[in-house]
Amino acid sequence: MCGIVGYIGNQKASDVIIKGLERLEYRGYDSCGISYYDPNNKKFVTNKDRGRVANLYNQYSYPDNNHYAIGHTRWATHGVANQNNSHPHYSQSKRFIIVHNGVIDNHKELVFKYLNDYEFISDTDTEVIVNLVEEFSKKLSIEEAIRKTISLLEGSFAFLIIDTENIDTLYAVKNKSPLLIGESDKGIVLGSDVLAFVNYADYYYLLEDNSFIIVKRDNGNFKFNLYDTIGFDLEVPEKQKMDFVTDELGKAGYEHYMLKEISEQPAVIRKIMSQYMVDNELKVSPEIKAMFTDIKKVYILAAGTSYHAGLIGRVYFEEIAKIPSEVFIASEFAYNEPLIEPDSMFVLISQSGETADLRSCLINVKEQGYKTLTITNVGSSTLAREADQYLNIFAGTEIAVASTKAYVGQIAVLAILANTLSKQHSLDLVSEMSRAAVSMENIIDKRDYISEIVEQVIISHDCFYIGRGLDYFVCLEAALKLKEITYLNTMGIPAGELKHGTMALIEKDVPVIAIISQDHINNNTRSNLEEAKAREGTPLIISLDNTSKGNDDIVLMDVHRLLSPLVTVIPAQLIAYYKAVELDYDVDKPRNLAKSATVE
Ligand code: AGP
Repeated sequence: MCGIVGYIGNQKASDVIIKGLERLEYRGYDSCGISYYDPNNKKFVTNKDRGRVANLYNQYSYPDNNHYAIGHTRWATHGVANQNNSHPHYSQSKRFIIVHNGVIDNHKELVFKYLNDYEFISDTDTEVIVNLVEEFSKKLSIEEAIRKTISLLEGSFAFLIIDTENIDTLYAVKNKSPLLIGESDKGIVLGSDVLAFVNYADYYYLLEDNSFIIVKRDNGNFKFNLYDTIGFDLEVPEKQKMDFVTDELGKAGYEHYMLKEISEQPAVIRKIMSQYMVDNELKVSPEIKAMFTDIKKVYILAAGTSYHAGLIGRVYFEEIAKIPSEVFIASEFAYNEPLIEPDSMFVLISQSGETADLRSCLINVKEQGYKTLTITNVGSSTLAREADQYLNIFAGTEIAVASTKAYVGQIAVLAILANTLSKQHSLDLVSEMSRAAVSMENIIDKRDYISEIVEQVIISHDCFYIGRGLDYFVCLEAALKLKEITYLNTMGIPAGELKHGTMALIEKDVPVIAIISQDHINNNTRSNLEEAKAREGTPLIISLDNTSKGNDDIVLMDVHRLLSPLVTVIPAQLIAYYKAVELDYDVDKPRNLAKSATVE
């Protein structure tokens, strides 16, 4: 979702902003823009429009001596993606300039109450913020005007504000949307994600909600002060070293990040094993194990792909740890809370650790006194910091919007967690996970074969994945992958449910892909596939060595039944990838989607 970057320093500010925005592209956006101070003409210049960040380089030139700028990638919430709605936005008199990430729920009421005389150029809620600052600055200092504005805003927001009459100061606010500070002796950079700071900061600081930041140029030095939104000093958080391996952020010779990340999955499993290995066993720490003492029920909350990993986690909690569990989609749980059983605790799963739907659940359940554990790929994220404990999945930065390696990382960590809680340590996870990593490698190596299958089979506008039990949960993920990057209408269906309605959609050439990794339902799923074949659907079978029969299309090396999702998902990821490539779509940045959904 929207990304913001701001900079005051010695370096060419437009470069810092545009490179930073490029690093934030993975979050998803449809338009972008920059405002910088041009000292030669003594004025601020703004370039913005619908389209890619590269346009900010290609279509404009920037003076070498520009050292103060803000920039934005916009994922449309209020108003369509066009130039008018792109950020930065100016206040009516043009004195103030803003970039904003988040949603202001009460923007209409605020216009009615305070801004009746203002004309709005865009359809955005952001323009309301900048005009409120302008309105209040008529009687108050700028700092007070910003504070008063914050006190009126309802919703989630992180924003940067320029006062064009003071080119040595940049104002920033963070509440419920991500914002961090990066620091080097060459300047201060602000951004929605630490990735925006790569090459431009040596250290970074994580900020709490309700932070008000004032960045100043002062005699060739650069510093920031931190306040709460009332005006009291805030303690500066511990500084963190930027320790990104820049290589990790490149495509390493792959055509797309998605293919690189699919190929990294066996390595992710091995990395997780090395991180959780204690005395030759895979275990979570005693503190995390202790959280589950006397817990009678686990609620798993997540969204999208992480929700699909959660469905598999539920099976692990019940089958391995023998703890009853339920899984909820975060946005549903947040506003339709079920009756929660006493002695329950919550496990939140999120690749980014920033998903707003999940955060609102976290705040709710914490207020009710429940213990919370986050499973995430980003140890510095909001959900990791705000839950009682967190478990890292060590997947490395995931750039493609379509999540792949985070999914297998989440499943592997859920298996380790459940096995640690099991009284009998029922799974020999060290050997089973090692075997799974080899099986994953095996199919990734044969990916050209999958690309051939895609050409022959996925030719309709619809596609169906069918499976039972764990296979059904993988079907849900397989369908999400295919639909999100190819825009083909795809569904994951419990195989036995096909005949209860969806079968009406099966006709000539519609692909029906069965995932069959569980021996006890092998024949049942095959019968359901036969029913689809009888309606002229095009069948395709993904099975394991020990469930394969005759000439199944994709046969994967055997793995433990419970770990099969780690492997069966891979052909599905590759099917989605190769189809999107064939259709010439932007694989890593599918339309309308954001990597990190920071609005509810
Ligand atoms: C899937 O490919 C998507 N990127 C999406 O469903 C994602 O899993 C969802 O938005 C949740 O994100 P999170 O794991 O960062 O919380």
